[in-house]
Amino acid sequence: MTDLVLSQKRLLIREDLNAPVKDGRVISDARVLAILPTIRLALAADAAVILMSHLGRPNEGESQPEFSLKPIARCLSQHLGRRVRLVEGWDSGLEVSPGEIVLLENVRFNLGEKNNDVSLAKNYARLCDIFVMDAFGSAHRSHASTCGVAEHAAVSCAGPLLISELEALNKALDDPAAPVAAVVGGSKVSSKLQLLENLATKADALIVGGGIVNTFLVATGVPVGRSLLERKLIPTAQ
Ligand code: 3PG
Repeated sequence: MTDLVLSQKRLLIREDLNAPVKDGRVISDARVLAILPTIRLALAADAAVILMSHLGRPNEGESQPEFSLKPIARCLSQHLGRRVRLVEGWDSGLEVSPGEIVLLENVRFNLGEKNNDVSLAKNYARLCDIFVMDAFGSAHRSHASTCGVAEHAAVSCAGPLLISELEALNKALDDPAAPVAAVVGGSKVSSKLQLLENLATKADALIVGGGIVNTFLVATGVPVGRSLLERKLIPTAQ
């Protein structure tokens, strides 16, 4: 993104704004804070900014209010000190001016998002001059807003947040000073299995924390009460 001329261009930026929301409020704004430099860079270059993200796992094709990006738009707007317009129906076109920030409603409300539907990917691509992939946390998903759109947009590039995550990962994995300990958190063991298997071959110690630790605790016979747990993965964790 930093290599391109962005002035007067419509940028469609895929971010991972899948932040925890409770009672309509963002309860951890880490993911919102992480994307601010990308947005500021785009605004400083006089681009029109269209953001998109998923939130949670709604039934695809249904606009379920509990998965709306409304709280995210509010939180983003507070941090930026400017309006962030949340847009739901954009199929028939979207007017965005340079200096303006628009957030598309949860991409998982759109039919075809998760199976990388070509016409949905083309519809996303039509909204922009440049597609920016900046969502490291969603980069393993082959969805229309992460993958298909990149094939159909006139220009596609990586965003600064994605690049910085990859650089940090490469630095830690390519040539680390021994001994190496890897600390892995998050909420779903299922989406981290491959990563854990990979890290186990590189690290001398693998430390699990966050929500995923519960599945491992139960696998070793420690009760976790009503804490987050992926029961199906207990044998794998064992
Ligand atoms: C996450 O929070 O792990 C990412 O946003 C990906 O979410 P997903 O597993 O629902 O695709």
